[in-house]
This record gives sequence, structure tokens and C-alpha cells, in this order.
Amino acid sequence: MNGSIRMLRPEEFPQCSDIWDMEKHADLAARFLSELRSGNRLTWVYERDGLFLGEISLVLNKDDPDYTLPGRRIYVSRLIVRRENRRQGIGKTLVEYAVSRALEMGYAEMSIGVDMDNYPALRLYTGLGFREILFLGEDADGKYFKLLKRL
Ligand SMILES: CC(C)(COP(=O)(O)OP(=O)(O)OC[C@H]1O[C@@H](n2cnc3c(N)ncnc32)[C@H](O)[C@@H]1OP(=O)(O)O)[C@@H](O)C(=O)NCCC(=O)NCCS
Repeated sequence: MNGSIRMLRPEEFPQCSDIWDMEKHADLAARFLSELRSGNRLTWVYERDGLFLGEISLVLNKDDPDYTLPGRRIYVSRLIVRRENRRQGIGKTLVEYAVSRALEMGYAEMSIGVDMDNYPALRLYTGLGFREILFLGEDADGKYFKLLKRL
């Protein structure tokens, strides 16, 4: 894969447009940036030759005990790999990296929300140990799972 993972500084956030359409999802981008600035969101990027190929974030407090419990459970948010670079192991590498950072920070559990019809993500997460179903519900985007991994 030949790239490397590093923490994203808030001022570098606009470069995530290498990975996803930030103009189209401007509301989401604004929320993520505000969380990054506040320190509630930690984001790492997978970078190769100056191009961002993938991104993962951990959120410390999400106001939902399924997702976050102070000092114990941390939430994986916005795992995304640039479309042209999928199926090259980048997503898996990013999740494994986030797990090691969460362990270093003293967390024991990691949560994720994933749409039931998102087969690639479900396969990736279950393969990496997110096997406990905390919740099966439905929102505007359809049915989704909240999954837990014990670290
Ligand atoms: C989900 C996503 C992050 C996976 O990233 P990726 O870099 O392509 O994944 P990897 O190459 O590391 O694949 C790891 C494992 O995930 C599973 N997987 C990934 N993509 C898959 C696909 N299209 N079909 C089936 N399984 C898939 C496989 O088990 C794969 O292992 P394998 O290649 O040995 O079979 C990527 O598809 C993506 O960005 N999707 C859009 C955003 C998204 O849905 N994010 C998750 C929100 S919860």
C-alpha cells in the first residue's frame, strides 16, 4: 500500500475532499470540523504522495450511551476510503490503527453504526471483531446496526 497514517490537524481538514465530496456534504463537513476543533473528534488520514486516500475518526462523546461511555467506550465515525482506492486494505488498516490508538488512550470498547445494506462495511467490521449487536433500528437512511468490539 506504501502510504502512511497520520493525525489530521483541523486546518488540513479541507484536503479530505481528496476522499469525499465535501461541497455536496457541506453540513456534515461543518459538523466534523467543529468537532475536530473542539477536540471531541480525532481524525487520522491515510496519505500517499501527498494525496489523502482514506480517513477514520474517533469521537469521545456522542450523547448516546450505546456509542460512547466516558473513558470506556469510544465511537468510530466516518471511515471512508477514496473510491478509486477501495479493496486495497486501506479501510482495514485504518480501523486497526484506530483500535491501537483507542487502547493507548485507555478505552476498553469501541462502537460503530452501520447501515444494514452496507455489505462492504459490515464485512470489514465483523471481520475485525465488531460482533456484538447493541441495537438494530431504523432512521431516515434505513435499517442500521450499532455494533460493539471489546478491545
Ligand atoms: C467500507 C470501506 C471503508 C472499506 O474500505 P476498503 O479500503 O475498501 O476495505 P479493505 O480493502 O480494507 O477491505 C477489508 C475487508 O472488508 C471487506 N470488504 C471491503 N470492501 C468490500 C466489498 N466491496 N465487498 C465485500 N467485502 C468487502 C472484506 O472482508 C475485505 O477483506 P478482503 O479484501 O480480504 O476480502 C469502503 O468501502 C468505503 O469507503 N465505503 C464508503 C463509506 C462507508 O460505507 N464507510 C463505512 C460507514 S459505516
